[in-house]
Amino acid sequence: MNSGALLERVARLREQLELHNHRYYVLDSPLVSDAEYDALFRELQQLETEHPELISADSPTQRVGAAPLSEFAPISHRQPMLSLNNAFGSEEVEAFDRRVRDAVAAEEIEYAVEPKFDGLAVSLVYEDGVLARGATRGDGYSGEDVTANLRTIRSIPLRLSGSSLPQVLEIRGEVLMLRADFEQLNREQAARGEKTFVNPRNAAAGSLRQLDPRVTAGRRLTFFAYGLGLTEPWPRLDRQSQVIDFIDKIGLRVARERDRVRGVSGLLAYYRRIGEARAKLPYDIDGVVYKVDNLLWQQQLGYVSRAPRFAVAHKFPAEEATSVVLGIDVQVGRTGVLTPVARLQPVFVGGVTVTNATLHNLDQVRAKDVHEGDTVVVRRAGDVIPEVARVVIDKRPEQVRRFEMPEQCPVCQSRVERIESESAYRCTGGLYCPAQRKQALLHFASRRAMDIEGLGEKLVDQLVDRGMVATPADLYDGGCLTVEKLAGLERMATKSAENVIAALDKSRRSTLARFIYALGIYHVGEEVAKILARHFGTLDALLAADWEDLIAEKERLQKENTKRRAKGLEAEEPLLAGIGPEIMRSVANFFAQRHNCDVIDDLVRHGVTFETEGRAESGGLSGRTFVLTGTLPGLSRDEAKARIEAAGGKVSGSVSKKTDYVVAGSEAGSKLDKARALGVRVMDEQGLLELLGP
Ligand code: IVH
Repeated sequence: MNSGALLERVARLREQLELHNHRYYVLDSPLVSDAEYDALFRELQQLETEHPELISADSPTQRVGAAPLSEFAPISHRQPMLSLNNAFGSEEVEAFDRRVRDAVAAEEIEYAVEPKFDGLAVSLVYEDGVLARGATRGDGYSGEDVTANLRTIRSIPLRLSGSSLPQVLEIRGEVLMLRADFEQLNREQAARGEKTFVNPRNAAAGSLRQLDPRVTAGRRLTFFAYGLGLTEPWPRLDRQSQVIDFIDKIGLRVARERDRVRGVSGLLAYYRRIGEARAKLPYDIDGVVYKVDNLLWQQQLGYVSRAPRFAVAHKFPAEEATSVVLGIDVQVGRTGVLTPVARLQPVFVGGVTVTNATLHNLDQVRAKDVHEGDTVVVRRAGDVIPEVARVVIDKRPEQVRRFEMPEQCPVCQSRVERIESESAYRCTGGLYCPAQRKQALLHFASRRAMDIEGLGEKLVDQLVDRGMVATPADLYDGGCLTVEKLAGLERMATKSAENVIAALDKSRRSTLARFIYALGIYHVGEEVAKILARHFGTLDALLAADWEDLIAEKERLQKENTKRRAKGLEAEEPLLAGIGPEIMRSVANFFAQRHNCDVIDDLVRHGVTFETEGRAESGGLSGRTFVLTGTLPGLSRDEAKARIEAAGGKVSGSVSKKTDYVVAGSEAGSKLDKARALGVRVMDEQGLLELLGP
């Protein structure tokens, strides 16, 4: 073939492949068989292999092939991607229409209407008709660059069709997974023994956010466009419905169910029509969207906060179905909270088969009056986990048993405590409980706790899933973790494994306050940990404490002080100031679990040591209370706080009469005003440094 003929053939093949692609993936009406398509594709591939100089980014052969990324780069949206206000019920729709009519002074409004796709918002930027980049919505102002993944989606053309396209054209729409593709994916995942997805939306999100585009390419995603973003020059379009027709014409997939209606009656009729068609649509939707059709009026209406005034999402109510409670199980979450869950006779609701529904907590079980054997209404809204809405009392069996929370954790048998302030129940075996392992390890290793650099989520997942580590003590057990063993894990090489081992070694020398905080005792944050460390001074003293005694003493003192205050007397300095009885009880429960103490013993045996805690009285700023506000020029908040505390001072979050100093940086706000009002001494960073001394 001479070069002219070659160029022509390559161009012709690309054109045909794009056409067939469009017919198949956008219009859903293929012109040729798969075999015919494959033959054309292979011919083009062959020609491109022989003449690599002819390969271009928009060639149909170039959808997959980009190398895996280590992270997604941020992309800022030149025109923000905003959200929609929701309307539930016809009254809210009427109110929306009234506001629009009033604002543009019109009797009746024409609306462009379409389904609300239940997927992920993305933006596609085409430059001179060629796909240049694509990004997720992110926070609306900046998203993630997922171009390589979006290129694998066949309903996204790499090159738009049509001549005289705007130079820059931004398409907005949603990536989703068609129900049929979702079901097929789950069958394949199950067959491979891999995790299945709860619903198409999660599957689409998981697939789009893959660092390796080959994984995304293996998942069938679809893109539906619903509007234009930044587009220059703006094409001659002055209605929303024309915008959608234009997007359709240049080769993207838009909702077939779109329509144009007049007034509230038109909107509500459309809502009912789509509601009835919902189950038969090939994709999940969670409502319909109404947009003022006239683009000039759209501009005139503009935006309030983060949503347009010219559009609204009319959401479908949560779907409901009835089922029978086979049993009430108790699940232990990552943080140790116990959640009662109704095990149900499988029921199809909101597009998925539900076998479990959360009952949230014991109060909810009582309020909804749910028992084993009850017939219940199960509700599922959008992406939210299914819940038991109510019991069908008429169908209650004659005899039912009242549900009680277990006294022992169903996973690790540690004692269960009730957290009054949150009406929650928690397992107290935090350091040991298999349900809480990952959380416990991550918290233990975190920067403000033992500060083990490199021990992040990915590594902890692997260590726990492979059974290499169960408790924080195992981290320091030379038999459990070695450079060799770590280097054998995913995303780890010898160098990074050595770094983790070195970080572990370094973390062995810590402070008592950090160590107490690292134990992850419920209610014990950094502040409480510091108070405990200061009060007890050593780990042994803390472990030997008689908590029942301390709690009784605390409660006695609190009552005493209430009386003293009533008499106008100064309150006594309370025992363990800053720690209330609920926190003390949580600490008591934690140390009462043999399991937890065994882990602490092991930690010490594996060489974890602490500097003895300096008592507060020793520093030069002892008894002084500071409040930090604004940005200091040299010190970070954390540094300033650490230095004040090292000198025996206390840092508080709010200004009161008891505050000794307010250290103010730039953009200090209301705290500074309050300090002035109360006559509290105010200083800048320099003043603080002088006070701290050398
Ligand atoms: S129009 C100013 N049309 O819903 C925003 N959005 O709640 C205009 N969505 O993240 C958006 N289907 O991604 C529009 N047919 C549709 C939609 C739709 C789904 C999403 C959109 C946005 C969210 C807003």
